[in-house]
Amino acid sequence: MAQDQSIHLAADISFLHTDYLWRMPGSWVGYPYYSSGEFYEDIARIAERGVMDMLFFGDTGGTPEDYGGSYHAVVERGAKWPRHDMTPMIPLMARVTQGVGFAWTLSTTYHHPFHCARVFNALDHVTKGRIAWNAVTSAYKNEAANYGYDELMEHDERYVRADEFCAVACKLWDSIEPDAVVLDREKGIFLDPEKVHSIDHRGKYFNVRGPLPALPSPQRRPVIIQAGLSGPGLKLCADFADLQFSTRRTLPSMQSHRASLDTALAAVGRKPRDIGILWSIRIEVADSDAEYAERERRYLEAVPPDAGLIEMSWQFNVDFSKARPEMRLADFADEVASERGNLGTFHELLNTIDPNQTVREFSKRYLLERVLAATGTPKKIVDKLEELHFGTGANGGFILARGFSASDNLKNFVDFVVPELQRRGLSKTRYAGPTLRENLNG
Ligand SMILES: Cc1cc2nc3c(=O)[nH]c(=O)nc-3n(C[C@H](O)[C@H](O)[C@H](O)COP(=O)(O)O)c2cc1C
Repeated sequence: MAQDQSIHLAADISFLHTDYLWRMPGSWVGYPYYSSGEFYEDIARIAERGVMDMLFFGDTGGTPEDYGGSYHAVVERGAKWPRHDMTPMIPLMARVTQGVGFAWTLSTTYHHPFHCARVFNALDHVTKGRIAWNAVTSAYKNEAANYGYDELMEHDERYVRADEFCAVACKLWDSIEPDAVVLDREKGIFLDPEKVHSIDHRGKYFNVRGPLPALPSPQRRPVIIQAGLSGPGLKLCADFADLQFSTRRTLPSMQSHRASLDTALAAVGRKPRDIGILWSIRIEVADSDAEYAERERRYLEAVPPDAGLIEMSWQFNVDFSKARPEMRLADFADEVASERGNLGTFHELLNTIDPNQTVREFSKRYLLERVLAATGTPKKIVDKLEELHFGTGANGGFILARGFSASDNLKNFVDFVVPELQRRGLSKTRYAGPTLRENLNG
């Protein structure tokens, strides 16, 4: 992120209105969220009004069967379901904007690097250089079953495959030099073959000849994002990423995460400022703390009592419906490890929650507390963002996790919080350049 110390801003718009948001005011029951380009175009315009860097679509391709051993709860309640492929929305959103970027998720565990390199090259072309790839290793059981695996691949092995995947994809993006295009009608030369290279990769998981049969795109490579919290995750990030997403729940935990990433970067000869972190945070604007508390009460009323347990079951691949009243999160550590789920996320919870709390107590506020939150007046929110940002080296910014309402949440952020950020000189008032990489760097 170069030397830039401003707060970069992104928003997670994955599967908007699922996870009980469809029951909240502002959501339109029956509205065709998954076929409405207009809905996503509006979101992109709102983000651009706030000079936000990026809108993010996460992806997992499963129907979780962890809670109670079946998918009934998630399907009945619209939790983590449905999971449409949101790729087609990106070109629509790109057409109505000029500055905001788009991050899209493609799993290194289930896909092929040749396909990845090709599709992100195309997305970089159509967005005019505003695409990022969220390179994930995928930690969910039913998703593995959908892609033909009887078992979820072991956690660290997923990162071995991811490492090779990223290396191949990068070689493919680099296989056509930017000045290879000649387009000389008189001589009949389209491309200079000396500047087009096969890659001849033969590895543990992939054999790829190359080159990428595509013209170099505006950014050449997409901005690469990695969100691993574990040791292998940080290593992958240090090796390949431009940016990291991270969910840490307290300032000390954020600081120690930043230090671990910096150590991983130093080990591969990179510097801390080579990778900014966008920290996940839920932001809820309210006129007062009392109004926020009332909103939180209404949200908790709208979600079923076992919502937190359903979410945790999905996230960690174990059935928390079986938690006996006295059981604590630590009692599930062995099972989570053997089920190969989101280990980094689980350890973060173990390290940051009150260890005396039972799983059932903790789960009641899980949807509120799984990530950091900044709530209340714009001034109070910006005070907190400023403290977290400068407390972690002013190297990145924030990605808004979903709030209590789908698009209203983003609108409130852009209309009330962004002006206060800009007034204090903390976030930018115009885009630095046409590409996402330029905007993240300046
Ligand atoms: C903001 C954010 C977005 C993420 N998006 C996805 C996603 O779309 N799909 C996915 O399978 N995992 C996603 N993850 C999970 C991470 O890729 C990673 O697996 C997780 O942080 C645990 O780290 P570990 O894999 O190193 O144990 C996301 C994580 C964060 C913090």
